[in-house]
Parts: sequence; C-alpha cells; structure tokens
Amino acid sequence: MLVLGIETTCDETAAAVVEDGSKILSNIIFSQIHLHQKFGGVFPELASRSHVDKILLAIDESLKKANITLSDIDVIAVANRPGLIGSVLIGLNAAKALSLSLKKPFIGINHIEAHLYAAMMESINNLIFPALGVVISGGHTKLLKILDIGKYEDIGTTIDDAIGESFDKVASILDLRYPGGPEVEKLAKLGDSTKYKFKAGKVDKNPFNFSFSGLKTKVLYTVKGQSSKKDFPTLIKEEEKKHIAAAFQKCAFDDLIKKCTLACSKFNLKAIYFGGGVTNNKTLREMFDKENLNIDLFWPQKDLSLDNAAMIAGLGYHKFKKENKSDRLDILAHPSCSF
Ligand code: KG4
Ligand code: ZN
Repeated sequence: MLVLGIETTCDETAAAVVEDGSKILSNIIFSQIHLHQKFGGVFPELASRSHVDKILLAIDESLKKANITLSDIDVIAVANRPGLIGSVLIGLNAAKALSLSLKKPFIGINHIEAHLYAAMMESINNLIFPALGVVISGGHTKLLKILDIGKYEDIGTTIDDAIGESFDKVASILDLRYPGGPEVEKLAKLGDSTKYKFKAGKVDKNPFNFSFSGLKTKVLYTVKGQSSKKDFPTLIKEEEKKHIAAAFQKCAFDDLIKKCTLACSKFNLKAIYFGGGVTNNKTLREMFDKENLNIDLFWPQKDLSLDNAAMIAGLGYHKFKKENKSDRLDILAHPSCSF
C-alpha cells in the first residue's frame, strides 16, 4: 500500500511517500526556519502563507522522488491535529482536495502520535510493548504508556513550557539563534554543567508531570539579573554563557531521565520509544545510554526527528488498515487534542 503523507502543522511543509507503513520512498521537507529566525520563534501567519507557497511543490517532489504518479497512491494521510490552526488547515485542505479529485481515501493523523511512530518505523517487525512513549518537541512534552500502535495511556505532561520551547527560550536569553535546541546543545558542549545550580520544577499532584518555566526564569535571572525581563541587558560575561547552557541542558535532561526511569519501573515497561525534535540532541541520547536502563531504547532515524511527513504516512498505513475506511471530508483541523 502506498501512502502519501502531508505535514504542515508548524513550520515545516512536508510530503512523503511510504510503502506498507515503513519503507520510505521519499521524505521531502521544506523548512521555514529562515523566515522565522528574525522573530525568535514561529510567526504563525508567515508560516501559513509559506505552506500555501510550498505545499504543491512538496507533494510533486515527493512523488517524483518516489518515482510514482498521483494515480499510484492508495491512501492520503495528513496531520490534522494538533498545531497552528492556519498551518494545519493548508495541509488538511490539500489532502481533502486530492482525496476528492482522485477518489482516494484520506485519513487524519495525530502529529504527536506520529512522532512516536517515527521511532518504530525502523524496527516495525520487532516492536516491544508495553513501552514508554516519550514525546519531546517544541510544542509537547509527554510520557505515555504504549500498549500497541493506536493504544496509549497518558502518564504525564508539562504543566507549562514544552521542553523544546524551554531550549528555544533559553537560547533567546543567551542571544542564540532560533531554533534554540541545536544552538544550546552546541554551546553546552563547551561548558561545565556544574558551575551553575538549576532545578526543574516539581509538580505536586503527578510525579510524571513536568514544569520547565521556573527553570527558564532562573536562567533569565542568572543572565540578566533578579526580576529582569527578556529584553533587559545581559549582565554576565560572554564566557559564562556556555556554562549556563550546559547547566540548563543537564538539569532539563536529568529531570526527563529521572521521570522516564521511574515510569518504566512503576509500570513495568519493556522499551522506550522517543519522538520529537529534542531527540536530535546527541547529549540526551548519550545520557540515556549511560543510565544502562537494561531495556531497548528506540530513537527516530535520521530525518525523522524533526517534523516530517514520512511519520504521518507510516502511521496512516496502520490507521487505514485497521479502520479500512476513509475519514469524512468534513473532519476538522484541531489546534490541540487529547492523545
Ligand atoms: O518536533 P519538532 O520539529 O516540532 C514540534 O512538533 O514542536 O521540534 C522542534 C523543537 C524545537 O523546540 C527545537 O529547539 C528542538 O525541537 N530541537 C532541539 C534540538 N534540535 C531541535 N532541542 C534540543 N537539542 C537539539 N539538538
Ligand atoms: Zn512535531
């Protein structure tokens, strides 16, 4: 079964063709980073306009690269939730138009679920459940119990900033470029993580919930002075920034690792599947390896960490196989969703 995947939930316009859920024939991603960099974050209206410019090109390229035509496609899968509503609508309407004109089924996909599926694609014939799902992206920080593809139970989530968002905000405090994650990681490599003492937030009611906004504020006050604002002048010396980046990163990742370890032992989980842009961080992967958790860790392969349409097409295959029918053409785009 050939599935055309479409992804436009945030600032990547992406289209991909995937065969039988895991064989990636093409994975085209047009990043909009250059458009948003000067704003220090995603500018939603610009994102939507750029999706309009690029969506047909992305689909054309994905078909060309896969060496097929539109008529070869069996199913169209599109991320219809969660995301920036204007952006989601561009991909969703493109998918609906294709479905209507080609008379092919289409299916709406949860972007967060697809991030987890990205880590499953390489080992689709050897999946291990029950497992812990860890979604760490710019918009989400979630721990889930995975019982099967499509069967999840919530364990924990962030009560304020997402982990990737906190990297982006700390990067901006340290005058680094957007997106902040890779920049903070690079700078942190040069620093001493013990020079500053930071603490991630503790959430009373659920030990698996996260809070990163206090940590981010602590970094702000360290860099610009107590009770300062983001646009205040920087008070610390330039060479301190690398130590702050290292201490922040270690603090955020220690918190994540602690909660993942606890979740695996409490719920007797046999593997961890990681998804979302923060999985790009090599230091995080090394830190998890050093924990020797004695369970299999599944990370997304190259080009599947950040937003992409291959994960949407891959998950679309399983959803369609299970339900064996198209979604209705009046399904909506959702800015947020429960899992
Ligand atoms: O999954 P993604 O592309 O978009 C969302 O669904 O949000 O994730 C983007 C996020 C950004 O916050 C970015 O700073 C973060 O992933 N990120 C990283 C790294 N690369 C990307 N965070 C930490 N270290 C990295 N190397
Ligand atoms: Zn994402």
